[in-house]
Amino acid sequence: MNKPRIWITRKLSDATLRRAQRDYDVVVNLKDQPGTKEQIISASFEFDAIIPCHSEIFSSDVVSQFGPKLKIIANHSVGVDHCDLGALKKKNILVTNTPDVLSDATAEIAMLLMLGAARHAICGDEIVRTGNWNNWSPSFMVGKQLTGSRLGIIGMGRVGQAFAKKARGFDMDIHYFNRTKLNKNISNGAKYHETIESLLEISDFLSLHCPSTPETNLLLNEQRINLMPSGSILVNTARGSLIDEKALINAISSGHISGVGLDCYKDEPGGNPEFSKYKNIFMLPHIGSATVKTRDAMGFRALDNLDSYFAGKNPADLL
Ligand code: DGY
Repeated sequence: MNKPRIWITRKLSDATLRRAQRDYDVVVNLKDQPGTKEQIISASFEFDAIIPCHSEIFSSDVVSQFGPKLKIIANHSVGVDHCDLGALKKKNILVTNTPDVLSDATAEIAMLLMLGAARHAICGDEIVRTGNWNNWSPSFMVGKQLTGSRLGIIGMGRVGQAFAKKARGFDMDIHYFNRTKLNKNISNGAKYHETIESLLEISDFLSLHCPSTPETNLLLNEQRINLMPSGSILVNTARGSLIDEKALINAISSGHISGVGLDCYKDEPGGNPEFSKYKNIFMLPHIGSATVKTRDAMGFRALDNLDSYFAGKNPADLL
């Protein structure tokens, strides 16, 4: 029997590619550039399945031009905001993602960003690296301490919970907003807020962990940013679309927000060049899940979903 034909749009981990090549008839985009609209449409005529990343955009316009061969999109990502799920459903194309396996890696990056933003990582590194460290004073680079501070988490799903667990190790007082209140054994002492507004009012530190959907677009707007305590720190490892970037720049330049840690931006790749003017914005290039262990786990999870589908079963991560 012929093996199903799979298009892998980016250079996934070696272990993932070896397993995919063993089990399927695979074409890998080794140029490792985001799949273009034309490539994606043409793949739908040639392949039974695609394993894309969040860099490939399955908009309704793209999906409306799909051919009849494509049956399943097994995303190599937990976020699926690059997929128009309604349009894909209409075409009877199944969509899966890779939850769970990247929660710890992403929570680690959120910790790094939170600490870096709170303790002047960019300025500190730069002053030593450039040979400009020529004085020391007790009032020099004084930051904000995590221990004992109130941490607000918006989105207490898997990544939010993993982040809360790590922040507990720093003795932070954890509060959260989520669509539904968690069971006590899961919330583990974290205090639930019925509204985003009431969470923001007490968040000395705030970290975003909710998906990007039409409802969460620009969730953190000017009005809401103004509710945060003066001098608070904001961290975003979820999606850039959650934040009104112009309002954030205003809040940083007025000092209302004293530090920011970002792994994602409205425009990617590239980010927002305006942010580079501020040394108290600590930035990384969307690498929350980029560890060897997690990349392998994401690739394997995407392949597990395909294996189930081609064995006639429901993939575990069917959306
Ligand atoms: C995800 O899985 O959604 C990460 O942002 C990487 O794509």
